[in-house]
Amino acid sequence: MSETKRSMPTTHEKLERLRRTRAHLQLGGGAKRAERQHESGKLTARERLDLLIDDQTFQELFLFARHRCTDFGMADKEMPGEGVVTGGGTVDGRQVYVASQDFTVAGGSVGEIHANKICQTMDLALKCGVPFVSINDSGGARIQEGIDALSGYGKIFYRNVLLSGVVPQISIIAGPCAGGAAYSPALMDFVIMVRGTAEMFITGPQVVKQVTGEEVSAQTLGGADAQMQSGVVHFIAENDDDAIRICKELLSYLPANNLEDPPDYGDGDLVLIENKWLNGVIPDDPREAYDVKPIIARLVDNGEFLEIQPHFAPNAVIALSRLNGRTIGVVANQPAVMAGVLDINASDKISGFVRFCNAFNIPLVTLIDVPGFLPGVSQEKGGIIRHGAKMLFAYGAATVPKISIVLRKAYGGAYLAMCGKDLGCDRVASWPTGEIAVMGAEGAVNIVYREQIKESEDPAAARSDFIREYSERFASPYVGAARNLIDDIIEPSQTRRYLSLALESLRTKRELRPQKKHGLVPL
Ligand code: HXC
Repeated sequence: MSETKRSMPTTHEKLERLRRTRAHLQLGGGAKRAERQHESGKLTARERLDLLIDDQTFQELFLFARHRCTDFGMADKEMPGEGVVTGGGTVDGRQVYVASQDFTVAGGSVGEIHANKICQTMDLALKCGVPFVSINDSGGARIQEGIDALSGYGKIFYRNVLLSGVVPQISIIAGPCAGGAAYSPALMDFVIMVRGTAEMFITGPQVVKQVTGEEVSAQTLGGADAQMQSGVVHFIAENDDDAIRICKELLSYLPANNLEDPPDYGDGDLVLIENKWLNGVIPDDPREAYDVKPIIARLVDNGEFLEIQPHFAPNAVIALSRLNGRTIGVVANQPAVMAGVLDINASDKISGFVRFCNAFNIPLVTLIDVPGFLPGVSQEKGGIIRHGAKMLFAYGAATVPKISIVLRKAYGGAYLAMCGKDLGCDRVASWPTGEIAVMGAEGAVNIVYREQIKESEDPAAARSDFIREYSERFASPYVGAARNLIDDIIEPSQTRRYLSLALESLRTKRELRPQKKHGLVPL
């Protein structure tokens, strides 16, 4: 045997090397850094994936990736896995692709090869038509890599756009996510953020202090509660486990891609049960508030719905739920908050959700009790016209089955913006308490009967007589029903039956629109 041959590693040695290297790389930044991660209340990148992905189904990709940066003493710096774990696996038996940033390796910072791992994983999600889940825990662009890191982010953002509307994209923010890095989650469909351990902002507290002089903590500036109120975050999780639980629940409602229907958990039977409680839910006094959420619970399967953005624009409720085992998107005004009026934030919240549901074949059920758009200087200056128009656009453009139920007030443009009949709604039913009118009776009377009220001996009494007369004549569902703007007036107790039959009959709905690149939603 020649010298050369003797010095060549044997197959056994090669296997040993592979096992050693793999085990080493899988440790990421090592035990000490993992411990630090735990001490700060966080799980490691792999622990998060273990919770998310079904046992034995994870196929890791690009474990052996290495950066090629030589600046700032980086040439010999080892970064196991390049600071991100990527691959595919199943969640409750359904395929997804994932990227989980590893904070124990250079703070999960994003360099050229780190970004390439994420991009290739996103490309696979797109080609295979399955959801992409990203778990963010990163110090941002890897500073030593300069514009190569910046370019990596650009490639990720570009793919976020390519995947948008084709496969669901879910982002979990489980650590820092600062600067431009925050724009990838912002381009995705849902953001789940962990309270206390995650921070998300364009510029951190130090820069804010330098630029504006404001002193603010990182959590106040960009914690989960702050970013829920800004409308960036959709779900707040109490810890990493909770974030994964929410992600799995969310995925259970969604189709794998835009060409599929959402999963069907039903047994084929329609549930047509009556619920007498609903007959007494609307107060006699039209100005009295009530909570719409218990109404939603009584209409859907097992009373269960996943509310989205509960603390952003709480005057509107949006939720994913199921009817007869199949996913629906629920939109409702919330009379318990600001009388359910539509403001700028509620308009953004609803229109974004309607567009998501339409992109992923989720029928829309809209519960209407809306007194109008919110009047006021700040709303006008903030662009309530532009924002409200998004709702009209979103509902008008949506071709999924659209069913609206008028519970009480349905006034003016706000009624149309909540998917009134003329917005291409497939079914509109009203409860007998419905008041479909061009505007509220009080406002209408002040305009139409202004002179009569002024000239009457008792203006207050005359005004209330006119209000009663106007309400009886116009603010009822019968006028709309007479003009076929309302398909039916139903007893509230029969609403579940109405929705079940309507959805069933609309299952085969196909609505084609003129070919175009895309519509111009007011932004
Ligand atoms: C390289 C980084 C890094 C980064 C953290 N690290 N962020 N390395 N590039 N961006 C490294 C640290 O040097 C440290 O390495 C390890 O990760 C852990 O970081 P710590 O600071 O010890 O952790 P902690 O105290 O928890 O603080 C976390 C942090 C802080 C708040 C994220 O690290 C931080 O402020 N990092 C810089 C954030 C930043 O300015 N990023 C660039 C923004 S520019 P060692 O080896 O010492 O353990 C940007 C532009 C993107 O993102 C544009 C996209 C369009």
